[in-house]
Amino acid sequence: MTTTTTASDLTNEVLSAHSTTPDPRLRELLAALIKHLHAFTVETGLTPQEWMAGLQFLTSTGQKCDDERQEFILLSDVLGLSSLVDLVNAADGATESTVLGPFYRPQAPHRAMGEHIGRPEDGDPALVRGVVTDADGAPLAGATVDVWQASSNGLYDTQDPDQPPFNLRGVFVTGADGRYEFRTVRPVSYPIPDDGPVGDLLRASGREHWRAAHVHAIVSAPGFRPVITHLFDAQNEYLHRDAVFGVKDSLVREFAPPGPADPPDVRYVAEMNFVLVRENSPGA
Ligand SMILES: [Fe+2]
Repeated sequence: MTTTTTASDLTNEVLSAHSTTPDPRLRELLAALIKHLHAFTVETGLTPQEWMAGLQFLTSTGQKCDDERQEFILLSDVLGLSSLVDLVNAADGATESTVLGPFYRPQAPHRAMGEHIGRPEDGDPALVRGVVTDADGAPLAGATVDVWQASSNGLYDTQDPDQPPFNLRGVFVTGADGRYEFRTVRPVSYPIPDDGPVGDLLRASGREHWRAAHVHAIVSAPGFRPVITHLFDAQNEYLHRDAVFGVKDSLVREFAPPGPADPPDVRYVAEMNFVLVRENSPGA
């Protein structure tokens, strides 16, 4: 007597075929991937046409990639996968992290405390300042605050031939008080590329392709786990519909008018403290 193969029979057969994968972590990842892919197919009753459309979409995504463009990372970003990977790997007690994004450049120039990282024509002058501490609030000397952002035309230096190299980028090293400050411009929203398959996906979903205005930072200190994060502008209209789901409440700051004790050459002041945890601490 023959019996009909069920979906779970097939899933178990595929899992069994991968169960002797020598590398234990790869074995774990493959098993979970197979289970979830199969469950997705059963749950949705995926049709052959939909299956093929999905494969064609992934093919187009790969074909859109080149040395400059990484459409798969963009796809991961707009599905919230990049943010989720970031979240499940976060260190307890540290400043919340968020996506690195595609525009980081290593070896930005070291700048004097308070120096402008860009040019006057880059936008509304702003001062960003704060202190880098450990989890107990003790200031960290020798901490590095590596910051970068787009100009008010929504472009990073790497995208804009009119900006000099390393415009709106800089590295600041804290002294004994753990404090840092730099002049920059108030950040603006900018669009993520929407001329590829990911743009098609966003349009099909009725979503927008704008990032909430932000300044990027990588904060590190010897013996501590680096934090890759953003500072978001509390007044930005895309704060609650950031295309890549990067916004976390703890990273949102007011760009407030300067007070009497603040420098007169800026229109806004934003305060952002950073907390680092030791490399071997829980969750790190
Ligand atoms: Fe960015």
